[in-house]
Amino acid sequence: MWLKELEIHQFRNYKDVNLQFQPGLNVFLGQNAQGKTNLLEAIYFLALTRSHRTRFDKELTQFNSDNFRLQGVLSKLTGTLPLEVSWTSKGRMTKVNHLRQAKLSNYVGHMNVVLFAPEDLQLIKGSPNLRRKFIDIDLGQIKPTYLAELSHYQHILKQRNSYLKSAQSIDPHYLDVLDEQLAQYGARVIQHRLQFLNDLETVAKKQQEYLSQENEHLTIQYESSIDLQLDLQFLVKELAETLLQKRQTDILKRTTSIGPHRDDVQFAINGMDAKFGSQGQQRSLILSLKLAEIQLIKEVTRESPILLLDDVMSELDNQRQTKLLEAISGDIQTFLTTTSLDHLQTLPIDLQIFNIHQGEILPETL
Ligand SMILES: Nc1ncnc2c1ncn2[C@@H]1O[C@H](COP(=O)(O)OP(=O)(O)OP(=O)(O)O)[C@@H](O)[C@H]1O
Ligand SMILES: [Mg+2]
Repeated sequence: MWLKELEIHQFRNYKDVNLQFQPGLNVFLGQNAQGKTNLLEAIYFLALTRSHRTRFDKELTQFNSDNFRLQGVLSKLTGTLPLEVSWTSKGRMTKVNHLRQAKLSNYVGHMNVVLFAPEDLQLIKGSPNLRRKFIDIDLGQIKPTYLAELSHYQHILKQRNSYLKSAQSIDPHYLDVLDEQLAQYGARVIQHRLQFLNDLETVAKKQQEYLSQENEHLTIQYESSIDLQLDLQFLVKELAETLLQKRQTDILKRTTSIGPHRDDVQFAINGMDAKFGSQGQQRSLILSLKLAEIQLIKEVTRESPILLLDDVMSELDNQRQTKLLEAISGDIQTFLTTTSLDHLQTLPIDLQIFNIHQGEILPETL
């Protein structure tokens, strides 16, 4: 799939912009703080209705305005698909093919993106929250049922937590009812995640081996407070039992201490937690994960996702740059930001350069 057109209204430092892209490589070239990342963020938001930089949509509206709108036209194997997402203080509104969508899971998935940004290194070293978000976003794009089940789970979790916080006395029968539902949905969330990480590991392992001349062997492990098996009934039972074991603690602490909302992922290279790996190993790992993501999305949707590269070329050595450029040179539309074309070793011929200066975008005529 590729993005043919993008219209931006009052998003970050863009007031009104209308752009036409090409299916190959699109380069956003400009000095620091001109709006390169803002533009990638707009494309990312159009696909996923969330930003990779902030949880607060208000921050995305142009200073002194209170709403923004993004519209895009995708070219897919099935035809042309218009998408729209807008935001006001009342919330988000999404449209597929000009029709309003009530549920997030009906919108996300039409446009697939893979973003690679310098802050991705945090995925290995940062808090578990970032790793859960990574799964939620990547898995959510290829499996809408996962998003739906995750949202059921979060809804019941919220109910349980607010009951634990506000109730004067706890009714065990009411908690039994909540826990039963929490275990049902939580088990589904965990099962989807286990399957996804298995698939991701198979593909990413090969990439990492290629990048390291067969020296580095990657493993990815889901870490949970319950025992794990792919079997759904097993997971339901485990979750239900553990919730019951922790009930007294939860009542005292007034929160839910176990479940997929607390789980984590461990990446390991040759059996060693990648947190302790060298910077080079960590960079290879992130690159392997991104390349694996592209491949998984292709397998599931039969189309290439759109690749967003935020200033990453300068961070990679020649060998890794070459590997990444190999991935780009296929049939994958790529948006790449850079402050200088010198950072790019060898560029494909069919590229379009957009010069970015203080929220103004000028396509370069070659
Ligand atoms: N809500 C907003 N409204 C208007 N301008 C904004 C808003 N949010 C950020 N900006 C402006 O956008 C600019 C930063 O844009 P961006 O992060 O895209 O820069 P960049 O070109 O990627 O720079 P770098 O090369 O340093 O990464 C800043 O000048 C900032 O003031
Ligand atoms: Mg930037």
